[in-house]
Amino acid sequence: MENKILVAYGSKSGSTTEVAEFMASELVKKGLTVDLKPAKDVKSVDEYKTVIVGGPIWAGSWPGPVTDFIKNNKEKLKEKKVAYFLTCLSLTEDKEESRKAEEKYLEKERAMVEPVLEGRFAGKMDSSKLNFFLKIMMKMMKAKDADHRDWDKIKEWVTAVAENVQN
Ligand SMILES: Cc1cc2nc3c(=O)[nH]c(=O)nc-3n(C[C@H](O)[C@H](O)[C@H](O)COP(=O)(O)O)c2cc1C
Repeated sequence: MENKILVAYGSKSGSTTEVAEFMASELVKKGLTVDLKPAKDVKSVDEYKTVIVGGPIWAGSWPGPVTDFIKNNKEKLKEKKVAYFLTCLSLTEDKEESRKAEEKYLEKERAMVEPVLEGRFAGKMDSSKLNFFLKIMMKMMKAKDADHRDWDKIKEWVTAVAENVQN
């Protein structure tokens, strides 16, 4: 089997799509062969040795289709190198309870398939991308629009994944 990597992702308001695209382009720059697909569109994982799966945390979890991707491909993924990543905003808070929450975000996915690496990245809040109700909700929660994505940190993590793949 060729050492082909799949980046399977989900995103609700688009910013994690950009993170997944960035990861894929960094891997391509390293000479690796990469497919980038929304998790819901992946028909088979057979041709991949390594699978990176990621999505944003909304209300404490990944979007359903990302978790379903792990659930539906569980047995095959166990035979591969799997890395998880998430974007969220709790990482921007300097609170012990936020660290505890982050430990739990991917608990059920880790129980299905244990990843070799897990990357947690601060995400982006862009209320212009949200529907009316979510806009109001974010206003009530006093969530401010801001892009917290640290591209150097994301690059560092994907480089660690690439090194792991080559071993
Ligand atoms: C409705 C909603 C719920 C969210 N819930 C959480 C959460 O439980 N924990 C957290 O840390 N961030 C939460 N966030 C922040 C998102 O994880 C962050 O904005 C992410 O980067 C969005 O990615 P996306 O643009 O790919 O959807 C929430 C954002 C929204 C709009």
